[in-house]
Amino acid sequence: MINLYPIARPLLFQIEPEKAHNLTLSLMKRGLVPCGKQTNDPMLEQTLWGLKFPNPVGLSAGFDKNAEVVGPAFKMGFGFVEAGTVTPKPQHGNDKPRIFRDPANDAVINRMGFPNGGMNAFKANLEKFLSQKDRPRGVVGLNIGMNKSQAEPAKDYAILIKMLGPMADYMTINISSPNTPGLRDLQKREPLLELLGAVKEERKKACGDHPPPLLVKLAPDLDEAQQEELAKTAMDAEIDGLILTNTTLDRPEHLNSNFRNEKGGLSGQPLTEKSTQVVHNFYKLTGGKMPLIGVGGISNGRQAYEKIRAGASLVQVYSALVFKGPGLVEDINTELLTLLKADGLSHISEAVGAAHG
Ligand SMILES: Cc1cc2nc3c(=O)[nH]c(=O)nc-3n(C[C@H](O)[C@H](O)[C@H](O)COP(=O)(O)O)c2cc1C
Repeated sequence: MINLYPIARPLLFQIEPEKAHNLTLSLMKRGLVPCGKQTNDPMLEQTLWGLKFPNPVGLSAGFDKNAEVVGPAFKMGFGFVEAGTVTPKPQHGNDKPRIFRDPANDAVINRMGFPNGGMNAFKANLEKFLSQKDRPRGVVGLNIGMNKSQAEPAKDYAILIKMLGPMADYMTINISSPNTPGLRDLQKREPLLELLGAVKEERKKACGDHPPPLLVKLAPDLDEAQQEELAKTAMDAEIDGLILTNTTLDRPEHLNSNFRNEKGGLSGQPLTEKSTQVVHNFYKLTGGKMPLIGVGGISNGRQAYEKIRAGASLVQVYSALVFKGPGLVEDINTELLTLLKADGLSHISEAVGAAHG
């Protein structure tokens, strides 16, 4: 494939970030974003929770909030796509501008606040994709969150499970976006156990014998004691996996000063090491027994490989797509194959947690 992104990037970077994102979505919907190749090498294929992942690189939540471009995202080469965060009712999110880029450091700050068209529109879009006879191969995860106006979070998560659970390959309970007041407070044992209890009960009612695996997405800004408590809670609640991590509230000194003063969650390169460390910690805390998805500042195969060696079975990307374009997915998979072979490994699963010795 010819990489046209070096030509498209300067044009996209002249446009306000959210407009550039919306333009990208509409080009994708029209089939105008060049397709990558889905890397389908048996060395990279894995079955987790009974689901077949053609490769370990997924599209992280927030890119496709309304499940509008799941098909085109698979055509970019992703092995799985996580749509959302969707909330029960449509909402506008925070005032614009609310996405900021620092191209010198391949970093993004966002304070979107879950703008989305609500679960009915989301469901209709997803149904359209799922009903396609020749739809691309890959796993579809649904990331759910609560409306800003909701004082009882469990109610929103339960209704989303009821409505969307039967259509999901897996569901992600997002309790880690920094832009919805009170959301990160759910990252504590008691409120989380209560929430997961309610969600699991609803899942049982709505999905019967085919319950989608339940994953929880956590923030990178948790101290060691909090990580320990949450790892134990995740195991006690018998959830199926963790997504590590969401954006950070950190503001490293080296970032452009106007950029670093923006409120919101920071992602991209400044998050790489911090999120890898969190993956490392949770792999250790859960004894390698709980599948982890590593996300945060992955922009090449080496960084993906480090997350996998730290304990991630799968990885996701978002910010690096902005800076590197759609060829990124195939590049990561190709480099992963090279790195596995260089280490004398014959399958990706042999690299998962390898950094722990
Ligand atoms: C503009 C933007 C919007 C995001 N929206 C969501 C969201 O709705 N739900 C969510 O769980 N994560 C969201 N994220 C976080 C990403 O899914 C990911 O966890 C984080 O950006 C770290 O990965 P990255 O460095 O590859 O971007 C968003 C990130 C960005 C940059």
